[in-house]
Amino acid sequence: MSNYHIKNLEEYFQIYRKSVRNPEAFWEEIAEEHFQWRRRWDNVLSWDFEKPEVKWFEGAQLNISENCIDRHLYTRANKTAIIFEPNNPDEPAQHISYSQLHAEVNKMANVLKSKGVKKGDRVCIYLPMIPELAYTVLACARIGAIHSVVFAGFSSTALATRINDCDASIVVTSDGSYRGSKSIDLKKIVDQALEECPQVGTVLVAERTKNEVVMTEGRDHWLAPLTEAAIDECPVEIMDAEDPLFILYTSGSTGKPKGMVHSSAGYMVYTAYTFKNVFQYRENDVYWCTADIGWITGHSYILYGPLANGATTVMFEGVPSYPDFGRFWQIVEKHKVNQFYTAPTAIRALAKEDLKFVEQYDLSSLKVLGSVGEPINEEAWHWYNNNIGKKESPIADTWWQTETGGIMITPIPYSTPTKPTFATLPFIGVQPALMDESGQELKGNQVEGRLCIKFPWPSIARTIWGNHERYRDTYFSAFKGMYFTGDGASRDAVGYYRITGRVDDVVIVSGHNLGTAPIEDAINEHQSVAESAIVGFPHDIKGNALFGYVILKDEAHERNQDNLRAEINRLISDKIGPIAKLDKIVFVPGLPKTRSGKIMRRILRKIASNDVSNLGDVSTLLNPDVVDQIRKIVGV
Ligand code: WT7
Repeated sequence: MSNYHIKNLEEYFQIYRKSVRNPEAFWEEIAEEHFQWRRRWDNVLSWDFEKPEVKWFEGAQLNISENCIDRHLYTRANKTAIIFEPNNPDEPAQHISYSQLHAEVNKMANVLKSKGVKKGDRVCIYLPMIPELAYTVLACARIGAIHSVVFAGFSSTALATRINDCDASIVVTSDGSYRGSKSIDLKKIVDQALEECPQVGTVLVAERTKNEVVMTEGRDHWLAPLTEAAIDECPVEIMDAEDPLFILYTSGSTGKPKGMVHSSAGYMVYTAYTFKNVFQYRENDVYWCTADIGWITGHSYILYGPLANGATTVMFEGVPSYPDFGRFWQIVEKHKVNQFYTAPTAIRALAKEDLKFVEQYDLSSLKVLGSVGEPINEEAWHWYNNNIGKKESPIADTWWQTETGGIMITPIPYSTPTKPTFATLPFIGVQPALMDESGQELKGNQVEGRLCIKFPWPSIARTIWGNHERYRDTYFSAFKGMYFTGDGASRDAVGYYRITGRVDDVVIVSGHNLGTAPIEDAINEHQSVAESAIVGFPHDIKGNALFGYVILKDEAHERNQDNLRAEINRLISDKIGPIAKLDKIVFVPGLPKTRSGKIMRRILRKIASNDVSNLGDVSTLLNPDVVDQIRKIVGV
């Protein structure tokens, strides 16, 4: 039995037990046998969830780009590492081999160095899904610079906040990006953002859309001439196991985004090991994850996890609806994709369309399907299973988070029997716990509570950039000695987990994790808005959509409400991004508040969801009458 590759349920249980009984021995063996180390560790694990502090493989030295690229040159130099599939299906795909990837990443690393980037510096990457994005990420890893990828759908304000939070002095971007039939002027957005970021001295611009851009003398440089002139060999920076590898921002339930910091060794070991098993990847398989590299899914399961295994990973620039709703399946057929990993929101959107978009393509290469980002509802699960997997490719409903770095609860395809809407069993080494509100662990099966993790796994985020206290408060204070996920979950009669959704003020819209507080902050800047509250409500395709309750200032009551709604959404688009726009906006005379002044979001959520049968006791509210007034306005 190889601990590295789980092949049946019995093996899963055996390996799981081993990993829990003696985690250090278990992870040491995985680390030892499957990676290249420049120096061996002195200590496998030290941890304290109260400080909190977690260290894996302390004393070890390595470079993750060496593990993802150089290591494979002996055996896989001509194997395709990345298949780049462009937005436009008529533009040829690029098959980038491991040796080409090596050359491109090394050149990019030399370009970054020539611009003064050193180990530990932060590099902000604001690029569409083009090969330069992969090269830049891996080049940063190669020279020990900390990458901070910002999803290229974020607005200039959101970008500026993220650049400033980690004090990046260089931004890598492109002239523009293609998204289906649209093209977006990315460079313009960067220019706007940089008005707020005086410390940024260098902007590297990849050419993609050839739209007109303004280049600021001395600061902005086209990337291509620099990489063409660069040498394709750049020695790797030897990193300590716990040196930060990247920062990735995720929304919080309050205030500004949290820059989750991931470190090198543990992250590499865990993403590689989960990738191998959750997707049952075999040499020569073609694997495709449809996420954007701007999210953790793309970091861990388009780049690092697959490349650490010497896999072939597809990188798709476009969207599922362009040129028509068959695009995903056309790509599966074209590249003979074996493992396909997407989000429930995409599945729901495609399930609405005519089945002919699926049926015209040969999907027989598929062996494993994955789902991630939010709970997958039963209908979507069956559609995926019946029409894409043809009931033969198991669905891995993978639960995890930006903070966890890798997949935490998931079936192992071909080993764990799947069950619609259940993420099923903890991955090897993961020790979940369900807690009640008083802080007691709910033992046994058929219970429901808040999902915590009791023991560290190798890819847990180590801190929030520049704010360790917030890290402790957010994840380690609700339940003593445990990592709190922010999700609710239940456990069924056989011990399968089902994630029921967020229990905090984070709403997942189309798979995007959005904090309601920053959106409220954005709206409240509108001159006509006095106060606002935002909640999620169920939506057929997006999973959840956003509902805004807005109190207007007195003088604004004369204004046209539709215009106000449009202005509010434009403001949100500018401050955060179009993904955070509200589906419904109602103007209300007040918000239900507790005596201590806290908005009772529970009531607002129920009204928004048209579920007012059980509003609970509202008599303790400061202003109980407002509930009926709001109901009348919403019409429920
Ligand atoms: C939140 C984390 C992990 C990559 C994508 C999202 C929700 C994620 C599932 C799933 C139910 C899920 C949780 C989690 N979530 N996967 N399979 N079933 N819920 O990363 O943006 O950090 O969001 O996504 O609520 O806490 P993220």
